[in-house]
Amino acid sequence: MLRNRWWTWLVGIVLTLSACLPRGDAKLDLQLHEIIRTHGLVPLQPAPQASKAKIELGRNLFFDKELSGNRDISCATCHAPILATGDGMPLSIGTGGVGAAPHRHLGPQKPLVGRHAPSLFNLGQPEWRTMFWDARVEQTDDGSFLARTSQGPVTLPPGLENVVAVQALFPPSARAEMRGFKGDPMRESPGDVDIFGRENEIAKFQDNDIPAIWQGLWQRIVAIPEYVSLLQAAYPNTSAEEMGPQHLANAIATFQIDAYTFTRSPWDRYLAGDKHALSLEAKRGALLFFGRAGCSVCHSGNLLTDQNMHNIAAPQIGPGKQPAIEHRDYGRFLITRRDEDLFGFRTPPLRNVTLTAPYLHNGAYDTLEEVIRHHMNPDQALANYDVMHLPPEVRQRTWISESLNRAMLERLDSMLQVPADLTDEEISNLLAFLDALTDPAAKELSKTIPARVPSGLPVSDDPDVIQGFLQEHAFVHHP
Ligand code: HEC
Ligand code: HEC
Repeated sequence: MLRNRWWTWLVGIVLTLSACLPRGDAKLDLQLHEIIRTHGLVPLQPAPQASKAKIELGRNLFFDKELSGNRDISCATCHAPILATGDGMPLSIGTGGVGAAPHRHLGPQKPLVGRHAPSLFNLGQPEWRTMFWDARVEQTDDGSFLARTSQGPVTLPPGLENVVAVQALFPPSARAEMRGFKGDPMRESPGDVDIFGRENEIAKFQDNDIPAIWQGLWQRIVAIPEYVSLLQAAYPNTSAEEMGPQHLANAIATFQIDAYTFTRSPWDRYLAGDKHALSLEAKRGALLFFGRAGCSVCHSGNLLTDQNMHNIAAPQIGPGKQPAIEHRDYGRFLITRRDEDLFGFRTPPLRNVTLTAPYLHNGAYDTLEEVIRHHMNPDQALANYDVMHLPPEVRQRTWISESLNRAMLERLDSMLQVPADLTDEEISNLLAFLDALTDPAAKELSKTIPARVPSGLPVSDDPDVIQGFLQEHAFVHHP
């Protein structure tokens, strides 16, 4: 009896001691600790507190097709919760499109959206000061907001709370995304009507006239009594006369921040002090990321982006931003017209990146390994780039040329110094680190989808659901 107990004790003591002894990765932990300290990295912060009513207003607007000129597309069509708040396609398909992403197709005579829909994770982090792949929405040093299109600065309403709210004003004003097209007498095109066949009154305004476009959308929203109640509940201290589009934009931002902030990735848990949160491979990958591989030069800070624009010579697929002029995307240059901004795109944040394929500003790559190899050797990656993997609708609108590739490579960002000789093992360690940036909770977002929205329009993009809805409502709208 006694001997048995002794054994149990001994085994217990040995086990406890061995758990306290430095493990194989203790040295890695020390090195990482030093990096974390010098870079001042901390775990992501939870979403700021917001009232339930404001979040609810925002949720309804985010999923409501009433905000699109033709009443046929919502924010969630391209930022789908079941696709990690993106659309899983290289380039988005906007108004007139048919089907739910990632199996959405272009409507007749409708263009592809020139860029890839990014994910919407962690937009409430205080570091955010830019939005979009070309940072055309930004918060300047004095705290004010600057929003520009290629036609110049845009007039914004007062009272916007953050860059996310400023951003929300833009998709409904973009013709290909949500607004729809006006008729062109020269080409005898009749212009868009909404899904019920009624006039699309939002399509008639000038492209840069955000105030007029949003006045139109505001009229639509306040014509729906349920939205008036939601607005009152969300802004109990604001009178009806004081309210306007900025209150809608602020609520949409609040919803996105509340629903899609995830602070428990293994990396964040490691930053919070849990040494066991990362695998050995992920720790090695982190050391490479912040060290020899040179990733953190651009993917810096808590969000893993410097929010600056860099030209890494992404393969130029799709129609670009000005398809009527030329089939290429000059990125930041279109906003600033400065030579050094040619082909510059904002460094993307990397949280939950394993969930958000395809990658880059136009979704040119399907896998993270291809993305890393591109960073290592853009020259070779461009030479070997195969358009055959692209969906036909994108492939048919892709015009890659030697001279275009050369123009990009000649202007490659000098900060891009990823060694071309990273070994396969190093690449897989980097991949393990990227994997550790994903919070498992970000995988299942369907609970953020409302069952219905105040306009009564279908939340779903399933063609059968929409057909059924139209048949049911045909009588009401075509008496
Ligand atoms: C037709 C598809 C489509 C629709 C509809 C759409 N988006 Fe997007 N969204 C995109 C694309 C594409 C981009 C990137 C455009 C760019 O950077 O030039 C984007 C960018 C964004 C960004 C910027 C994220 C970042 O990291 O910079 C946010 C936020 C966003 N959308 C929210 C919304 C909201 C809110 C709505 C509805 C009001 C909406 N989107 C509607 C496709 C869409
Ligand atoms: C010179 C700055 C720079 C460096 C250094 C850099 N990147 Fe990037 N990275 C970018 C830019 C800019 C993009 C987007 C380019 C585009 O879309 O045209 C990008 C895109 C990415 C993407 C795609 C993310 C998405 O959501 O589409 C990943 C992943 C990535 N980088 C990882 C890395 C890794 C890993 C390293 C180090 C091996 C690295 N980057 C080094 C600037 C950089």
